[in-house]
Amino acid sequence: MLKALRGTKDILPVDIGIWQTTESSARDIFAIYGYKEIRTPIIEEASLFIRSIGDTTDIVQKEMYVFSDRGGRNIALRPEATASVVRAYLENSIGGEALAKLFYIGPMFRSERPQKGRQRQFYQMGVEAIGSDNPLLDVEVIVLAVRFLQKLGLRDFSVKINSLGCEKDKKAIIKKYRDAIKPYLKSLCSECTQRSKKNVLRVFDCKNEKCGKIVENIKFENLLCKGCAGHLELVKKGLEKAGIDYTLEPKMVRGLDYYTKTVFEITCPDLGAKDAICAGGRYNNLIRDMGGKDTPAIGFAFGMERLILAGKGKVSLPGPSLDIFVAVTGNDLEEDAFKIVSMLRDKGSSCEMDYEKRSLKAQMRKAQRLNARFVVILGEEEFKQAKVILRDMEKGNQREVSLTDIPKEIK
Ligand code: HAM
Repeated sequence: MLKALRGTKDILPVDIGIWQTTESSARDIFAIYGYKEIRTPIIEEASLFIRSIGDTTDIVQKEMYVFSDRGGRNIALRPEATASVVRAYLENSIGGEALAKLFYIGPMFRSERPQKGRQRQFYQMGVEAIGSDNPLLDVEVIVLAVRFLQKLGLRDFSVKINSLGCEKDKKAIIKKYRDAIKPYLKSLCSECTQRSKKNVLRVFDCKNEKCGKIVENIKFENLLCKGCAGHLELVKKGLEKAGIDYTLEPKMVRGLDYYTKTVFEITCPDLGAKDAICAGGRYNNLIRDMGGKDTPAIGFAFGMERLILAGKGKVSLPGPSLDIFVAVTGNDLEEDAFKIVSMLRDKGSSCEMDYEKRSLKAQMRKAQRLNARFVVILGEEEFKQAKVILRDMEKGNQREVSLTDIPKEIK
């Protein structure tokens, strides 16, 4: 039998409730904060991600799904959406002079080793605010992520922030770290030996335990310029004023090359090894590097599978999913039942009946399984007088009502 590919999962009707609730909560709060939806293609030219995420990152080197199409073009399944949003922003001149506030929800693809909370096709929900370097915007974006988690009913999470500084600071940080790592070169994993030369920051997010220990031993030095240090202070102050608890993680670098200044992650201890449910930061040079004007920007993305793992049992889900089940006693009334079902659906109620000519008992069991709020029972005697029995499944009582009154009675 054919099976779903490793690292991909069907989201089945029994599980869809939490997905839909999470998505609609996100849409509601994104609208409150002024973010408008953007949907970009799932396939893009591979060079878009190579240039933006960086050609020495794990995502580009090991995880991106790349293929040649019939025209010989190098195509990638998007591993993330920030690069696509920036491409769309530039291609469609979205921002003009104003701040563009965009959000997206959709699947991303990374060929990683699957484990709990890590898939090859996974969903992200993210925002990108393009066009301002104001630290208040950093605060807005982090507060939005935190309020969203609170709205879902999650409490047990930590916000970690850091600053990678401007281009100049980042160069200084890279130089310092390259020097600091030199004495350990022989102990690093073979990939990190290469990384230490080409892109030392990537050693800092290496998943190898030995490399992690070496990084722990490296002394951190604050190399931020006055402007970037001031920016970080204002972000911290803003978070404190908003009542957001956070910790400063001076060695947090993030696994994508485009970040500058503020970077952050939100982790959930319940999730085990893959505990980052949200991550983001500023990418003030990306738009310029991709051929646009110098335009500062910041954003984040939630991993939906991890969010849903963390939210199981905490997110309150919608109640009964079916308004009315129409049951019949005797086969002759099946067509009349179908007419009533159609009439109720036309009036906007969700409505079901049984097509298998089962006993009334079996039909009632089905109504219960479907979580029906009401059951309309058509009995031959009542039906002759244009009446039916209306059973209130929540209250557990029933009464006779006339056919034409059903919509009014269930209101
Ligand atoms: P990222 O850290 O690569 O950042 O991914 C963001 C989140 O996506 C992670 O924290 C995690 O929850 C989820 N995620 C990543 N990979 C997987 C996977 N294989 N399986 C399940 N979940 C996963 C970005 O993608 C940036 N574009 C975020 C951003 C937006 N920065 C600025 N704007």
